[in-house]
Amino acid sequence: MRVLVTGGAGFIGSHVVEALRAGGHDPVVFDVRGEAAGDVRDRGAVSSALAGVDAVCHQAAMVGLGKGVADAAEYVSHNDLGTAVLLAAMAGAGVRRLVLAGSMVVYGEGRYSCARHGRVRPGPRSAADLTAGRFEPRCPSCDADLVPGLVGEDAPADPRNVYATTKLAQEHLAAAWARSTDGTAVSLRYHNVYGPGMPRDTPYAGVASFFRSALARGEAPRVFEDGGQRRDFVHVRDVAAANVTALEAEVEGDTAGGALTAYNVGSGEPQTVGGMARALAAAYGGPDPVVTGEFRLGDVRHITADSSRLRAELGWRPEVGFAKGMREFAVARLRGE
Ligand SMILES: NC(=O)c1ccc[n+]([C@@H]2O[C@H](COP(=O)([O-])OP(=O)(O)OC[C@H]3O[C@@H](n4cnc5c(N)ncnc54)[C@H](O)[C@@H]3O)[C@@H](O)[C@H]2O)c1
Ligand SMILES: [Zn+2]
Repeated sequence: MRVLVTGGAGFIGSHVVEALRAGGHDPVVFDVRGEAAGDVRDRGAVSSALAGVDAVCHQAAMVGLGKGVADAAEYVSHNDLGTAVLLAAMAGAGVRRLVLAGSMVVYGEGRYSCARHGRVRPGPRSAADLTAGRFEPRCPSCDADLVPGLVGEDAPADPRNVYATTKLAQEHLAAAWARSTDGTAVSLRYHNVYGPGMPRDTPYAGVASFFRSALARGEAPRVFEDGGQRRDFVHVRDVAAANVTALEAEVEGDTAGGALTAYNVGSGEPQTVGGMARALAAAYGGPDPVVTGEFRLGDVRHITADSSRLRAELGWRPEVGFAKGMREFAVARLRGE
């Protein structure tokens, strides 16, 4: 199938392009960077790129936590205006299949249970608590310690920063498009993606890239909070394979039309951020990580996905385990190095 890959020159998009080619498909790159530069906010450029296309794999976005509210208009412009223009052009061109790069950030804090109150949803952590080193969210009713659990796709949305808000809006736009065109929309809510070609550290990069870039400078990775934050690090080749799986399932009619279906995409092996830093430093042969107690408001404490739905319904399986993936990442080239 011919697939327009927006953001196809990016970290994840370029791996999607490679995986599509390996699967015998015909990917077309659409990205503001690179040779055939095109902006998803440009209706004319998007419409011409859609000629002869069977499906769109929408990876283009402004990513990361950025500079917070100062960047809000740019995030909304690239991510939400861009998605709206793309969807309108798809409706015009009669392209009815979409796979969207979603994100775990739509959930906010993960899933927690309190011994007395069962499942609870703690609000954002206060600056006062974080400054005092109280990193764990507490039960909103009784202030007790909580036990973190796995987040399913049915968890309520609770975006905690500008980027997260724009990723959630992309899903709502895609759902509205699917309803009105009887299109098929799948959102793959990626966990923390890492691997070769990851952009090196900028305010827009992920934590694995910060650590890897520090090691490359000969410095110890600086681990925020107490290092006990839980995340799921999923390898970029597994994420690319999930995109191909979802695109093929849409063609085969295995995903519902007229609605958006969301799937979590995680490795299923949750780690702590401190543990990841230690594994990466050891694989690199660099200095041990330093736990700094610093924090970023808007970061969540624990967020780990239950990715069993994607396995059960579409048969996707991650292939790159944590230890192997980190060994490869330790020596891989980052973008911008
Ligand atoms: N990296 C992660 O851990 C992660 C996690 C969850 C979701 N995601 C999502 O995955 C997608 C890809 O992210 P990535 O990590 O590869 O980032 P990236 O920055 O490497 O790739 C994004 C690409 O989109 C392009 N782009 C941005 N705005 C554009 C526009 N208006 N028109 C055309 N192209 C535009 C950029 O040039 C870039 O090449 C994004 O939608 C992101 O929100 C990433
Ligand atoms: Zn309680």
